[in-house]
Amino acid sequence: RCNVAPLLPPLTPNLSAHLIAPWVSVVGLEVHAQINSDSKLFSGSKVQFAAPPNSLVSFFDASLPGTLPVLNRRCVEAAVMTGLALNCSINKKSLFDRKHYFYADLPAGYQITQQRLPIAVNGSLSYSFRAGKNLNQMETRKVRIKQIQLEQDSGKSLHDDVKSQTLIDLNRAGVGLMEVVMEPDMCCGEEAAAAVRALQLILQALGSSQAIMAEGQLRVDANISVHRPGEPYGVRTEVKNLNSARFLAKAIDYEIRRQTEELENGGSILNETRAFDYRLGRTIPMRDKEGKQDYRFMPEPNLPPLILYDSKSLPTNTSHQQVVNIDWIRERLPDLPSVKQAKLVEKYGILPEHSFTLLNEDGLMEFFENVVKETQMNPKKVIGWILNDLLSYLKQCNLTVKESPVSPLLLTDLLNLREREVISSSAAKKVSTELWKGEGKTPAQIVKEKKLELIQDQKELEQICQAVIEGHQPAVMEIKKGNKKVLNKLIGQVQKTTRDRSDPVLVKQILEKQLL
Ligand SMILES: *[C@@H]1O[C@H](CO)[C@@H](O)[C@H](O)[C@H]1NC(C)=O
Ligand SMILES: *[C@@H]1O[C@H](CO)[C@@H](O)[C@H](O)[C@H]1NC(C)=O
Ligand SMILES: *[C@@H]1O[C@H](CO)[C@@H](O)[C@H](O)[C@H]1NC(C)=O
Ligand SMILES: *[C@@H]1O[C@H](CO)[C@@H](O)[C@H](O)[C@H]1NC(C)=O
Ligand SMILES: *[C@@H]1O[C@H](CO)[C@@H](O)[C@H](O)[C@H]1NC(C)=O
Ligand SMILES: *[C@@H]1O[C@H](CO)[C@@H](O)[C@H](O)[C@H]1NC(C)=O
Repeated sequence: RCNVAPLLPPLTPNLSAHLIAPWVSVVGLEVHAQINSDSKLFSGSKVQFAAPPNSLVSFFDASLPGTLPVLNRRCVEAAVMTGLALNCSINKKSLFDRKHYFYADLPAGYQITQQRLPIAVNGSLSYSFRAGKNLNQMETRKVRIKQIQLEQDSGKSLHDDVKSQTLIDLNRAGVGLMEVVMEPDMCCGEEAAAAVRALQLILQALGSSQAIMAEGQLRVDANISVHRPGEPYGVRTEVKNLNSARFLAKAIDYEIRRQTEELENGGSILNETRAFDYRLGRTIPMRDKEGKQDYRFMPEPNLPPLILYDSKSLPTNTSHQQVVNIDWIRERLPDLPSVKQAKLVEKYGILPEHSFTLLNEDGLMEFFENVVKETQMNPKKVIGWILNDLLSYLKQCNLTVKESPVSPLLLTDLLNLREREVISSSAAKKVSTELWKGEGKTPAQIVKEKKLELIQDQKELEQICQAVIEGHQPAVMEIKKGNKKVLNKLIGQVQKTTRDRSDPVLVKQILEKQLL
């Protein structure tokens, strides 16, 4: 199923000669998504990013003796929603287990998770990414989802190197997570990043997780191995805790290269856990994860099995408040990104890859739709401005769509000036450049100040054209000989003389009339 690993530049240059035989790389992911809920999975403590340390900790979160878990309904619904959106079978009965390990930020000494019987299983996720030699082909693939399980997050250890201390913040302890386990169906960093991005868009569309990677709401572990075609899978390494799509892709591609080189050199791969050092751009072994862990799983004695219902199994005389009804949630699922994408293509006549870009960039679709609503310009032309002008500018300046100095309203004004033929397209580009300076001027003001309006007076244009003809006799001779292409040179001259204030179509007509 997987492609042969691309022959990436070797880590050590003198090895390149050996890297002839192809290797197949295999990548599997586990994604921890923080559930979008006001309170934690088993306690009433608030969930909030960047709150003062240890300000959101209940007795249960701190594991004081005698405290008991109370399951948060909202977290269950979020997991069911996510499972349905990912084509999973929802288990009507699932179980909670204790997973034991010793760590300072885990006060109970165990995490409550769903090891034996998770809430959702056997799903799939489609994603698209650029493939091919020049990355100019959109390829759509599918990864199987093995399971989705509910579990608690741990607290955080903060290391103070100056004072050589470790401080514990339990605000995150007990926050609800959905662990999405994918089968090893992927083969490179770019592909894995696309799958995570697709998952992120789905979670955000559902509202089941805000999935903000920079806030650690989406954390990814990756299993990576390489083998010869036709042979069994190689020994895998696991890279932990990647919280950016870019680093995920880099870490995976680094591992593939590292393992390939190691094996080419006659070495072997250790079955180990590694971390990605983004400053060095490589993965390094994690010392605290050495050796095989025995998690001593056992059923959580303080939580009964989690029972879900569908419309058939729903006991009579129960209200929505008393049970979680899978069918009720299914009927209320919002549009998924793939549906939104198809709708954009249909509604505006834009290309599928453009609709993909609109959805892939946070806030870009809303920006586009706001502009389309207010302008007379054809959406197919608007998308050109959004992608070539807005997006490339934002990328250059590392800005998000929200931070754009040009609002949808300003861009609309500009496009309307162009659409009403007040300015030429090259003048529109000039206005746009001015707008990006963020000086607060409107397009109309800029046009006025810089005198960019198209010359409307036909007589004036005819005079300018005549002058250009007189000044470019050799070109005129060429045209008269039948070389029509040279006409463009004259049109360019008129544009230059008028500083882009002439309509090229009109100029062409006038020149043709005067010359032929
Ligand atoms: C999920 O798939 C596995 C393997 O194909 C199968 O044994 C199991 O019954 C499936 N579970 C559900 C709930 O469909
Ligand atoms: C679920 O399956 C359908 C049909 O195979 C597919 O069109 C859809 O893309 C899948 N959903 C996801 C999130 O991949
Ligand atoms: C990697 O593989 C191991 C062993 O099969 C499994 O326990 C672990 O959950 C996998 N991790 C990921 C990120 O897929
Ligand atoms: C690697 O180790 C994990 C547990 O530490 C185990 O589940 C897995 O089977 C091992 N894989 C290989 C290929 O040795
Ligand atoms: C449902 O509730 C109503 C009112 O509480 C009661 O009269 C009725 O007998 C109940 N029906 C069943 C099947 O329990
Ligand atoms: C944008 O970010 C990249 C890398 O993060 C950096 O190299 C570049 O200088 C930044 N550009 C600007 C305009 O800040």
